[in-house]
Amino acid sequence: MEIFPEVKLRVRISTNDVHYAGNLVDGAHIMQLFGDVATELTIRYDGDEGLLRAYEKVEFLEPVHGGDFLEIVGKIVNVGNTSRKIIFEAYKIISSSKDKTQESACDVLAPPLLVAQAIGTAVVTKDKQRVKRTVIDSNDNEVFEAFNKIKSGEAKRMSQK
Ligand SMILES: CC(C)(COP(=O)(O)OP(=O)(O)OC[C@H]1O[C@@H](n2cnc3c(N)ncnc32)[C@H](O)[C@@H]1OP(=O)(O)O)[C@@H](O)C(=O)NCCC(=O)NCCS
Repeated sequence: MEIFPEVKLRVRISTNDVHYAGNLVDGAHIMQLFGDVATELTIRYDGDEGLLRAYEKVEFLEPVHGGDFLEIVGKIVNVGNTSRKIIFEAYKIISSSKDKTQESACDVLAPPLLVAQAIGTAVVTKDKQRVKRTVIDSNDNEVFEAFNKIKSGEAKRMSQK
């Protein structure tokens, strides 16, 4: 079975990204980071930036503030002719400790806090796909399965029965 790429992007949210009262960052900024992750994924998979065609689900679960550190994780979970379905997750990994006596104090969040998630589809048209892949047919899969059984010793045990 083919293993699809996964990428991680770590960024610090700057005060320039704050859009609303209370140092709050707009959801569109998180979407931009999802877009950067999708771009890296299609570069790794196809050798091309690709284009985001659709989002079918976007959720903003926790507020993000200026000064937070985020880790954005993206993984291709399904590949069509030109479509690449991607699951995105944004985690807050460091935030201000909100200590009024020490405004530079920050905390590492353990575990990280899931702040947003989405499912999206990027498209790389056939003419832009620079990485050529061979199609594995079912006969090949049978050969791989047999090979894996031999490697794990299962085939030997079966022949002893
Ligand atoms: C992306 C773009 C090139 C696709 O054009 P297209 O090839 O005519 O698109 P299609 O409607 O034929 O769909 C292409 C693929 O996406 C899939 N798709 C289309 N709409 C979809 C949707 N709403 N959700 C999930 N997948 C979808 C199709 O099933 C098809 O998949 P397949 O090739 O694996 O079978 C074109 O729509 C475009 O330029 N859009 C603007 C993109 C953009 O600017 N994004 C923002 C910046 S990245």
